[in-house]
Amino acid sequence: MPHRMTLLETDITALDVDAIVNAANESLLGGGGVDGAIHRAAGPGLLDECRALGGCPTGGAKITAGHNLTARHVIHTVGPIWDGGTAGEDDLLRDCYRNSMALAADSALRTIAFPAISTGVYRFPILRATKIAVETVAEILRANPDFETVIFCCFGADVTAAYTDALTGYR
Ligand code: APR
Repeated sequence: MPHRMTLLETDITALDVDAIVNAANESLLGGGGVDGAIHRAAGPGLLDECRALGGCPTGGAKITAGHNLTARHVIHTVGPIWDGGTAGEDDLLRDCYRNSMALAADSALRTIAFPAISTGVYRFPILRATKIAVETVAEILRANPDFETVIFCCFGADVTAAYTDALTGYR
């Protein structure tokens, strides 16, 4: 079975998928970066729904409707803030991908798009983060034949290059 992972250099808010993943903060009340872009595109209904969620711990994930987005759902996950690599950041980033994919499976979603979680404001090194993303998602896809496609949505040439490198070797 093919690995079902692909990369696209585009604005994640434009994707027609079952769910896009938001790189949020623990309040789930919006922010800059991809969080800001998703809230702007989804409209105020998304923030209203998020307010009722009561936040989300780092590494956790919560799901909402997509509101004005083309995507049917938004899965909000909170990545770790990079602190040098010895504070459990790798495991917390893995948890973001695992918990987001688990929520998608629980809702029988088949197509999901991830931004490069934690690699912007949270300063997680891009090569290290994209390697964790691809390895974690590949393992989950091997165990879950119901998923159709996972898109790694890249915003900028550096992230695209990193995912291209991380995906080398997967067939
Ligand atoms: N589509 C796809 N990817 C995007 C988009 C977009 N429209 N906008 C930004 N990105 C990319 C960034 O280039 C980066 O590669 O998303 C990745 C994650 O960067 P951030 O959005 O800064 O997220 P993160 O590093 O996880 O920091 C999260 O930033 O915006 C706040 O509220 C958010 O406090 C939280 C923190």
